[in-house]
Amino acid sequence: MSVHDLLYLVPNSTPPKVVRGEGVNLYTDDNKKIIDGTGGAAVSSLGYGNREVIESMKTQAEKVCYVHNMAFTNEPAEELAHILVSQHPDVFARAYFANSGSEAVEAALKFALQYWQLRGEPERTHFVSRKQSYHGNTLFALGIGKMVSRRAPYVGVFPKVTSYVDPCYAYRCKKEGETDEQYVYRLEKQLEDEFLVVGPNRIAAFIAETVPGTCLGCATPVDGYFKAVRRVCDKFDILLILDEVMCGLGRTGTFHAWEQEGITPDLQTNAKTLAAGYQPISSVLVSHRVYKAFEESNAQLANFHTYQAHPLACSAAVTVQKIMLREKLVDKVAAIGKYLDEQLHKTFDSHPHVGDIRGRGVFWGLEFVKDKKSKQWFDPKYKVGALISKVGIKNGAFLNPGAGTYDGVHGDHIMVAPPYIITKEEVDTLISILAKSIDEAIASLPN
Ligand SMILES: Cc1ncc(COP(=O)(O)O)c(C=O)c1O
Repeated sequence: MSVHDLLYLVPNSTPPKVVRGEGVNLYTDDNKKIIDGTGGAAVSSLGYGNREVIESMKTQAEKVCYVHNMAFTNEPAEELAHILVSQHPDVFARAYFANSGSEAVEAALKFALQYWQLRGEPERTHFVSRKQSYHGNTLFALGIGKMVSRRAPYVGVFPKVTSYVDPCYAYRCKKEGETDEQYVYRLEKQLEDEFLVVGPNRIAAFIAETVPGTCLGCATPVDGYFKAVRRVCDKFDILLILDEVMCGLGRTGTFHAWEQEGITPDLQTNAKTLAAGYQPISSVLVSHRVYKAFEESNAQLANFHTYQAHPLACSAAVTVQKIMLREKLVDKVAAIGKYLDEQLHKTFDSHPHVGDIRGRGVFWGLEFVKDKKSKQWFDPKYKVGALISKVGIKNGAFLNPGAGTYDGVHGDHIMVAPPYIITKEEVDTLISILAKSIDEAIASLPN
């Protein structure tokens, strides 16, 4: 079709049209092969065209695609909830399914608010979040996060229920000579001070991405950071919501990213790799603590969506998660992640414009700098991350860019978050296209 009635992200710029996907590769209508180095937006864990998932969706579609959740349950939703909860039955009591990451985040925030109402503390309506966090694009989720560029058109209309502390971002925010312990202590103190300023008994929850993606480009938490967060939340009886929409379900080399932090959340969100892009679906995992309040009062959830726990979406997710378990893909992520880690460092450690390489599993960020020693960023007007991404597509690899890494305006990164099934040879291809694209993009900038 050559008419363009679709509203594009940039109205006068038509993106390449993808007509097919197979394994880690996408193919456009002009038959160009593009290796998907970010699995879309860190979605496509199983790659494209997985026959088992497609066949299971066909089977479910023949049975029933949709049921009204207010009156009925359905088998794929029950099975998916069991798969997720049974990974950590000591932590989680129930699973809830919505359609997007944003909806999951909104649901988690609302569950937290309703939890405090049920507990007889309705004045707990405030959320503490982190600067440089992204929690989704619906107004409440966008308001809770701090992605400057996406928030800009709406700043006046966000619910005024959030305050922000610093993220754990060692590359730029850990001071010269500061140890990890000192840095963690500084952040712990800041969080506690913020709780005290707001008034702990007004706070519903603290929300954070366990390994932040979109804004901070996979800046992994420093050892002990989340233990400190959990400690402060527990001290004031404040719920901890971990947003693992992007970093969860295997991507960092463990099923949940928090497993590497030695803590557990009270509420957790997941989305992208839940059905690996075969269907739109997201989840909220509800801890025993939170569920107990709902169970004891038998309170109806105030949050509801027409398409929640959608049978077809759940059936795709069931098959994806069964493949994950059967093929031990979490272990494979850890193994291929180690190779990716080595190759990224081997290729870019000495690159004059790659300031930082950070990540876990198959969730990596490269932060670009004009000057490596001073960590001076490129002028934001050059949109270096987006430029590298654009050149990458021309050269045959897609890598998701990020801008405003440091403060919402300054700093650029790209994310390397390939499908879990990527092979060593494909990692080599991806990295060589990335290296070529970085050099080509930066060479095109004026001096
Ligand atoms: C951590 C996190 N939370 C929430 C969202 C929102 O998810 P969605 O775009 O599916 O609404 C995203 C999307 O990138 C995300 O990375």
